[in-house]
Amino acid sequence: MFNLRALSGVAHRFLTRQPHLRTMSHAARLLPNRVPHKKGPERDPSTLSNYEHFKPTNTSVNLKVHWADQKLAGSVTYDLTVDGNPDKLVLDTSYLDIQEILVNGHKADFSIGDRHPIFGSPLTITLPATTNAPNIQVKISYATTPSCTALQWLTPEQTAGKKAPYFFSQCQAIHARSVMPAFDTPSVKSTFDIEIESEHPVVASGLPIKSGSDANKFVFRQKVPIPAYLFALAGGDLDSAPIGPRSDVYSEPCDLHKCQYEFEADTEKFINAAEKIVFPYEWEKYDVLVLPPSFPYGGMENPNITFATPTLVSGDRQNVDVIAHELAHSWSGNLVTNCSWEHFWLNEGWTVYLERRIVGALEGEQQRHFSAIIGWNALEESVKLMSRDPVQESYTQLVVDLKPNGGADPDDAFSSVPYEKGSTFLFHLETLIGQAKFDPFVKHYFMHFRYQSLDTYQFIDCLFDFYANDKEVTDKLNALDWEKTLFAPGLPTKPQFDTTLADECYSLASRWKDASDASAFSAQDIASFNSSQMVVFLITLSEYEGKNGFSWANKKELISQMGDIYSLANSSNPEVIAKWYSIAILAKVESEYPKLADWLAAVGRMKFVRPGYRALNSVDPKLAKETFEKNKDFYHPICRDMVAKDLQ
Ligand code: BES
Ligand code: ZN
Repeated sequence: MFNLRALSGVAHRFLTRQPHLRTMSHAARLLPNRVPHKKGPERDPSTLSNYEHFKPTNTSVNLKVHWADQKLAGSVTYDLTVDGNPDKLVLDTSYLDIQEILVNGHKADFSIGDRHPIFGSPLTITLPATTNAPNIQVKISYATTPSCTALQWLTPEQTAGKKAPYFFSQCQAIHARSVMPAFDTPSVKSTFDIEIESEHPVVASGLPIKSGSDANKFVFRQKVPIPAYLFALAGGDLDSAPIGPRSDVYSEPCDLHKCQYEFEADTEKFINAAEKIVFPYEWEKYDVLVLPPSFPYGGMENPNITFATPTLVSGDRQNVDVIAHELAHSWSGNLVTNCSWEHFWLNEGWTVYLERRIVGALEGEQQRHFSAIIGWNALEESVKLMSRDPVQESYTQLVVDLKPNGGADPDDAFSSVPYEKGSTFLFHLETLIGQAKFDPFVKHYFMHFRYQSLDTYQFIDCLFDFYANDKEVTDKLNALDWEKTLFAPGLPTKPQFDTTLADECYSLASRWKDASDASAFSAQDIASFNSSQMVVFLITLSEYEGKNGFSWANKKELISQMGDIYSLANSSNPEVIAKWYSIAILAKVESEYPKLADWLAAVGRMKFVRPGYRALNSVDPKLAKETFEKNKDFYHPICRDMVAKDLQ
């Protein structure tokens, strides 16, 4: 560490007067070669915008849904405070058709730069010298095009009710730039006014506002500042039903009652539990939209209205942990946001941590640990898969580098790692510090950074500052290997989990491994298992593969019988079905290949689709490629691109 007193008087006074200057911070002391020498979060490498010079005070989105042409057209208006003297404003765009730009009501010159394969085309707007006042307004008229990756359009035939067309957006991580010209970085937050003209009902990431007599006008206000990736729209034949005192579920009318049943028992309980762990829910309403099957994620935490895959609606309320997760984002991610996708663990690691705290509060610590065991297995699997390739391996770090080679695609870096390595790290801190002392920090962290975006170094400073007067904790924190925690690839130290609920699953799996035929097994074996226990049972089977020369391919008949005895392919739970196919493929049960192909034609959630295709491709590449070709148009553009890459 450098010696302050050895500095010149001027430098000394300068540094001591600015206590949060990076060179003074705990993070800088612990990670001398990592922390940027400037105040505030690191720059986001995944945006082409010059966001450092502008701060939006509000964003107004006015769009018309052109259903027949499958496009959105209208304008976005930014009210901006300008910092410094920039002569231009650069925004992110991707496949947008830009028509006209007004700066303070006057037409402005603009140009669209060459397309970067990942980051899209920078839109450069000339700011006349006369407009360099602290506040300016920039209005951009534009339309989307069929190439916009954030939007999926469905014909009536592709929907459940077949009555109306449907569209939805998915902006995370860097697809907001294909819905509107944007500061497409999680570092920039703004309130939003959203006005949509549409013949069919529309929902958006804000609170709905009564819009008078015009039945085709849908108005929303988002009064909490949010980053562009949380902007969301969906439209179609939508109806809603209550699932709690401050919650409604939206879906196509024909599915509405099933959706209501799935979520009405748990949603408010989750909100109450989360409010005790953090602090009161700030967004007023918490709604859920259940999307068509091609929605590429399990859930997306769009503010006020979580978007969810229909695979959650299995009739047994066994997938509601996804709702706990998306709700938890209302604090981690939506109020307190990662400044770039390099620090994505701050969003997802914290969210998984909170999700499991909610589960722990409602169902007990054993259930929390059980959920963490499933997560740990996913982490092991990801690390194993990703370690085969050096770039992918670098994405097994907690904090990743997305800058090399002209910039990496955050969608390529996506995996279980930020979720599970992140939540494991927070669980480790909780254990190290003790839950009684850690709980107040959880509240403090979210209060301290709410409405802001931060990097990992600011998190570390906040942690050390919070325990500054507690020597016992400070000593423990100082003893952590921070460089390794944040930047070493691979698995962290495995926590001590309570395996009470997992033990039954382990012992059943071990019986199957040692069995020579299926005569000793019956459906009774799993009668008391919930779907998570089924998942752990199946994962445990898969983990024997390759250990001490063991291979399920030598027990093909046994696995096939197991599938029949436990009716695995007919499970109502997609997590169970997915794990069943993965073990059936390991065992090379050929009769399951076409069934897997059929399943892949019906689900669009990438978590299932990508491993499903990879598995099928490993045993029957022809069938995998044919299935993909046949169903390409069903998948969301993001999913389609990822599977195409996976299948090369
Ligand atoms: N925010 C994510 C989804 C996401 C991440 C979309 C990155 C685009 C880029 C969401 O909160 C999420 O994590 N969903 C999970 C569910 C979960 C319970 C872990 C999913 O989709 O599986
Ligand atoms: Zn999440």
